[in-house]
Parts: sequence; structure tokens; C-alpha cells
Amino acid sequence: MTDKAELETIEAEFARAIADAMDEQTLDAVRVAALGKKGRISEMMKGLGKMSPDERRDMGPLLNGLKERIGEALTARKDALQEAALSVRLASEKIDVTLPLRETALEAGRIHPLSQVWDEVVAIFADMGFAVENGPDIETDHYNFTALNFPEGHPAREMHDTFYFDPKADGSRALLRTHTSPVQVRTMEQGKPPFRFICPGRTYRSDSDQTHTPQFHQIEGLVIDETTHMGHLKWTLEEFLAAFFEVDGVELRMRPSYFPFTEPSMEVDVRCARLGNEIRIGEGDDWLEILGCGMVHPNVLKAVGLDPDKYQGFAFGIGLDRIAMLKYGIPDLRAFFEADLRWLKHYGFAALDVPTLAGGLTS
Ligand code: DAH
Repeated sequence: MTDKAELETIEAEFARAIADAMDEQTLDAVRVAALGKKGRISEMMKGLGKMSPDERRDMGPLLNGLKERIGEALTARKDALQEAALSVRLASEKIDVTLPLRETALEAGRIHPLSQVWDEVVAIFADMGFAVENGPDIETDHYNFTALNFPEGHPAREMHDTFYFDPKADGSRALLRTHTSPVQVRTMEQGKPPFRFICPGRTYRSDSDQTHTPQFHQIEGLVIDETTHMGHLKWTLEEFLAAFFEVDGVELRMRPSYFPFTEPSMEVDVRCARLGNEIRIGEGDDWLEILGCGMVHPNVLKAVGLDPDKYQGFAFGIGLDRIAMLKYGIPDLRAFFEADLRWLKHYGFAALDVPTLAGGLTS
């Protein structure tokens, strides 16, 4: 037999258990213990049937009231727990929209100065109507030397510090091309004049110091038709150098030189000013050697089956690494190949700054 005082104790016990429940699972256990099928309050409700009508009249409302208040307390606590859980979750998932965005790989990455200069040179010559041609890095003696009018045993061959592969059974030796000039021969063999193209590419020589690396880069240029002469050569180089160094004009000086595949052959200097480590192209009283060029030798034309009495033109060769160092003030060529990220961050270019003549090569 339950009395009023006992009901108050039970209510106080459940009220405390509800208040103490720190998560929904614990709270549900309290609900089951109070109002579940075999819960304390449910059992007492079942006992009403066995009571006398008088007792039932007293206990009925008391028990119903208790059931209702505990039910309400459970609901209120459940709401509070859910709200608290939501606040914790919201706090943990908070996004500070005022934080700057993290750089994407595209923004953080850098284009190597050599790739940049390669693209700049292609953009300039493409604007002048030059095509871009390619050839293999592994060459034969024929394309690297013989077809370019290097006679057998001529000292010019020795000067190239060639990397040779082991001789084949027939005694021939493949080599790593020492210059991009073999692409002249290969391209002329494949096509018909007129020719007007450049070939940027990798080249190799057994040489290493501050301004030489065993692998380096050149751009070959070739124009062959029936009328091209040295005046065109000079104009082309002036236009190229002014555009490349982004100055209004350059002054060139041509010195007689020797290359087996050109006659006459020239080395070209550009007027510059030296201010400490800095070199300014197009001003001052100094001269800087910048490239080699000449009128294509009749023997080279003959080697590709062209009649030298009908066809003529010019060729030039530029050291890509060298002009990159000059333009961007890079003192040591070897750093190009060291893959040092700090160096690349300093000298590299943003990925989307694609050089175009209209947009400015490097702006
Ligand atoms: N092939 C030469 C070298 O590597 C560079 C060169 C000079 C290329 C004069 C040319 C040229 O086409 O006309 O030393």
C-alpha cells in the first residue's frame, strides 16, 4: 500500500535522476524505470485496480499527477539535452568566414624560369610567323655533325665535348645531341622550302661550372627560301631581342666567327650597361655576347637535297639558359637544376601568367 509521503519520495527520486542524466541514453533509462511497461509508476498504476473504490479515489489523481509531471520533466530534460548537444556540435563545426582562403596548388606552384623563358621565346617567334619544330635528344653522328658540314676529324667536333653511347656492332655510336642544329637537317629533309621555324630543346655537353651544366637548352632558328639575306637576319634578331628583354630597341654588333654550318658565321653582341651585378640591355657602353648565327652553308643545303644556287637563308642558335640568367638576374646556372623550392619561389613565375606579346611577356 502506497501513501502520499511515499509518492513524494518517489517523485523526488525520479526528479533527481532526470536532472542528473547528462545524455539522452541515461535519460531514457530513467524513463523506462519510471514509465516503461514494468516501470515503477506504471506498476503502481496497475495496482489501482486492486484498490477499494475509496483508496482509488484518493490515489488515482495522485498517481496520474505524478505520471504527468515525471513525463513533463522527462520531455523538458530531453529538449535541454538535445539543445546542448546541438550547441556543442555547432561550436565544433564553426567556420570563420573571415579567414583568408588557403592557396590552391595552382596558386602556390611556380613555373621554372626556364619554362617561362622557353614560352616567351616561342611567343615572340610565333608572332613573327615561325613554326616550332622538334627533334630527338639522342642523335647520330650524321645529324649532329656530318650533315652540318663538320668534316671527319675536324677540331670543331672535339670542341663539342660530346657524350657518346657505347659503339654498336657496326661501329657507329649514338650520342646526346650537343646542339639543336640537327633539327635544321631533320626538318628540311622532311619538308619543302620555304622554311621558317625555331626549335627550342635540350642539349648536352660534358661541361660543368657556374655558367655550364652537362644538360642545357638552346633555341635553333632557321629561315630558308630564295631571297632571305643577312639584312633579314639582323632585323629578326633585333626584333627578337627587343621583345625578349622588353626594351624599345637594341643595338647589335656582329663579329666574324666560325661555325661549320654557316658561311659567313657571326657572333652577335648586344649593347648593354653593367651596374654591379645588374645588366641593362639596350643602353650603356658595354657589349654582351648573346648568340651565334650566319648564312646557311651550301653544304648543309646540299646534304638535305636543296640546290644552294636556288635556296638561301639564315640560321641562329641561342643559349636559352644564358638569356634566362641575363633577363632575370640569376647568377648561377647550376641552380636551375637543383630543384630547391626556396629558389623556385624566388625566381619562379605564377602558373597563370602565360607569356603573350599582347598581354606583356612578364607582366
Ligand atoms: N649550334 C651552335 C652551337 O651550339 C649554335 C649555333 C651557332 C647555331 C650559329 C646556329 C648558328 O644555327 O647559325 O654552338
